[in-house]
Amino acid sequence: MADALMRTLAVLGSTGSIGTNTLDVVRRNRHLYQVYSLVAGYNIETLAAQILEFRPRVAVVATSEGLARLTECLTASNLARTEWPELRWGNAARVEAVRAAEVDTVISAIVGVAGLEATYEAVCLGKRVGLANKEVLVSGGSLVMEAVRKYGAELLPVDSEHNGAHQCLRAGNRAQVSKLILTASGGPFRNTPQRELAFVTPEQALNHPTWRMGNRITIDSATLMNKGFEVIEACWLFDFAPSQVDVVIHPQSSVHAMIEYSDGSVLAHISATDMRMPIQYALTYPERCDAPVPKIDWAEARKWEFLPPDYDKFPLLKLAYQCQEGGRSETCTLNAADEIAVEAFLSGQIPFPAIHEVVAETLERVPVRTPRDVGEILEIDRESREAARALIAARAGAVTA
Ligand SMILES: NC(=O)c1ccc[n+]([C@@H]2O[C@H](COP(=O)([O-])OP(=O)(O)OC[C@H]3O[C@@H](n4cnc5c(N)ncnc54)[C@H](OP(=O)(O)O)[C@@H]3O)[C@@H](O)[C@H]2O)c1
Repeated sequence: MADALMRTLAVLGSTGSIGTNTLDVVRRNRHLYQVYSLVAGYNIETLAAQILEFRPRVAVVATSEGLARLTECLTASNLARTEWPELRWGNAARVEAVRAAEVDTVISAIVGVAGLEATYEAVCLGKRVGLANKEVLVSGGSLVMEAVRKYGAELLPVDSEHNGAHQCLRAGNRAQVSKLILTASGGPFRNTPQRELAFVTPEQALNHPTWRMGNRITIDSATLMNKGFEVIEACWLFDFAPSQVDVVIHPQSSVHAMIEYSDGSVLAHISATDMRMPIQYALTYPERCDAPVPKIDWAEARKWEFLPPDYDKFPLLKLAYQCQEGGRSETCTLNAADEIAVEAFLSGQIPFPAIHEVVAETLERVPVRTPRDVGEILEIDRESREAARALIAARAGAVTA
C-alpha cells in the first residue's frame, strides 16, 4: 500500500497556511512522500527552515533579492553546500519546479494569480494537482478545465467545501445530482448590523471565527467574496450551472458541503476544521489514511445552525453568481479587483463596504472578453488591477480634495 501511495511533490506556496499544513502531512507520513520542490514568495526564513527539514531538490523564491537572502540563510546553517537544493527565483522557475519528470503531484497553494501558470503547466503535463489556489479556476476556469480533460490531469480540490463535495459525489451518479450546497461560516460580521460595517477595522475583519488562514482569504471570508469564489470554483470543478449551487450559512463550519440527489436525498460531508484532512485526501485519493485531525464532538452538533445568506449585506456573493453567469472574463476581473480592494482595506485606504464598491465599479470599466490562453488571462488580470487601483486613488483624491 505504501508504494501505491508514494508521491513526489512540488509544493507551490510552501510557506503559507496551506503549504505549511501540507508539509505537516508530509512530516507525519515521511514514508509516503518525497518533496522535490518548494516554491515560496518572500518568507525566506521559513523556506530556509523547510529546506533544512525536507531537503528538496529545488527551491524557488519570488525575487532575486529573496534568492540572495536565502543563500545567506543556508550559508549560515550547517547544511553542506553539496546538500543544497538548486536555488531559483521568478515565474519561469515556478513553472520549472512542477515540470520535472520526478514530480507526480503538485499542491497548488500560492495565493492569487501568481500560481496560475505553474498550476496550468502541471495540468497540461497530466499530473495530479491538489488545488487550494481558488484564483486558478476563478480567473482561468474554462482554460484550465479544458486542459484537465485534454491531458487527463487529476484535479483534486483541497478547499474544504469542494473536497467535501468531491467526497459526497463519489456516493452516487453525477447525472442524478440536483444541487450542490456549500456552507459558509458567515465570517466575523455575521451578526454585525449592516450600517456598522463602514466602521469595522482590518483587525476585526482578520479575526475569523472558525479558520486560521492567510490574510486575503480571511478578508474574503468576512465579505463572503470567498464563498462567491467557491461557487465559481465549484461550477468549474463539478460542471454545475451557478443556479445549481446554493450557499448556506453554517457558523460552526463542521458541515462543509452537501450534495442533493434527484430523489431528495442529501449527503453531507462533515469533519473538523483542519485543512490537513482535505490536503491528505488530495494526496492519497482514492485511498485514505489516518490523519491527525480532531474527531467530531457530537454533543456539539445540537448547536449547529443553518441560515440563508444575507445578499444585501454581503453583495459580493451575489456579484460572483452574476459574473459566473456571464461566463467570460468577468470572474478574472472580479478576482483581480477584489485582491486590490482587499489590500487597500488592509492598509486603511478604504472602508470595508468600499471593497464591494471598488470591485463592482472595476467590473463596469474593464471590457469583457474570452481569454484564449494564460497570457490573455494575465493581461486581463493586470488591466483589472490597474483599473481597481485607479478607482481607489480617485476615491482617496476625492476625500482629500
Ligand atoms: N488557508 C486555508 O485554509 C485555505 C483554504 C482553502 C483555500 N485556500 C486557498 O489557498 C491559497 C493559499 O491560501 P493560504 O491561506 O495558504 O495563503 P497564505 O497563507 O497567504 O500563503 C500564500 C502562499 O503564497 C506564496 N506567494 C505569494 N505570492 C507569491 C509569489 N509572487 N510567488 C510565489 N509565491 C507566492 C506565499 O509565499 P510567502 O509567504 O513566502 O511570501 C505563501 O507561501 C489561496 O488561494 C486560498 O484562497 C486556503
